[in-house]
Amino acid sequence: MMDLETIRALPKAELHVHLDTCVRVETARELARKYEIDLPEPLEIFMIAPPRCADLADFLRRVDPQLAVLQTEEALERVAYELVESWAHDGVVYGEVRYAPQLCTREGLSMDAVVEAVARGLKAGAADFGVTVGQILCCLRHEPPDLSEEVARLAIRHRDRGETLVIGLDLAADEARYPGAPHRKAFELAREADLPRTVHAGEAAGPESVREALDVLGAMRIGHGVRTVEDPDLLARVHREGVLLEMCPTSNVQTRAAESLEAHPIDYCYRLGVKVSVSTDSRTITPTTVSREYALLSRQFGWGVEHVRTTTRYALESGFGDAEARRALLDRVMQVVV
Ligand code: ADE
Ligand code: ZN
Repeated sequence: MMDLETIRALPKAELHVHLDTCVRVETARELARKYEIDLPEPLEIFMIAPPRCADLADFLRRVDPQLAVLQTEEALERVAYELVESWAHDGVVYGEVRYAPQLCTREGLSMDAVVEAVARGLKAGAADFGVTVGQILCCLRHEPPDLSEEVARLAIRHRDRGETLVIGLDLAADEARYPGAPHRKAFELAREADLPRTVHAGEAAGPESVREALDVLGAMRIGHGVRTVEDPDLLARVHREGVLLEMCPTSNVQTRAAESLEAHPIDYCYRLGVKVSVSTDSRTITPTTVSREYALLSRQFGWGVEHVRTTTRYALESGFGDAEARRALLDRVMQVVV
């Protein structure tokens, strides 16, 4: 079994984490005081989800206080910077963060200004802590398809500018209640522009949502994908096509995508050779770190240094960020002595 300090010292990658689920409680409190926003107290109860939520929608309610404070450039910049700081402390050398910029425009910010503010925070963090970073913009299942198209165009525009570190497009929110197909056009735009795509699927909905993500939306990776294992043919396809499943063990138990850590399919998938990566999904709603997730997998399934190295290799190979930077990091990861 690996202890937390051993894991923290290993170079790791995080592909799946939401900016608006990572606001530190103390930061939220401070920002709320500054902007005279009334947040409920004790804030921890409203921002941190219990080990088992009623469902994904119950889990996602904990985003509200975080979004309430993420409405200024200063707040976005700070929270992005603090995430990179957290990555560095966690031994994460490559991080992709995602969020829906359209949720940060309540006080009048444009979506471009939101993306630019997050980029400033990420870049400052990258410079101070030496982490390679990128941002993924999220369309949301319950929103109108034309807004998703706007988000896709925003992502393409910023990727082409190259300065704001936008590297991909995602579809998030409640998959149990809202299908992905209405957002087909947004994902077509991304595909035509060669912008990488990931889609949350197989979390609150079954294997059919993973098929939809692959066939209708052209997803190259799947957010969570935990329920892919319910359909052996689909699992075989995911394996064959090298589609990476961005799994988040503790979050998956909280949202009931998995019954328990013991019943979580990550180890089964890994043993089959399916590409899986280990992420937090969130560092506040799910109070965890990538290192802690590996420690839990070590205790539950006997994962060791080789598992960390292999899943980090998968993550770097399937990352959406600059290929040369990922290759250099991969060299570093492969030098780790097992
Ligand atoms: N937004 C934040 N966390 C999410 C999750 N686990 N699933 C879907 N949308 C999300
Ligand atoms: Zn997610």
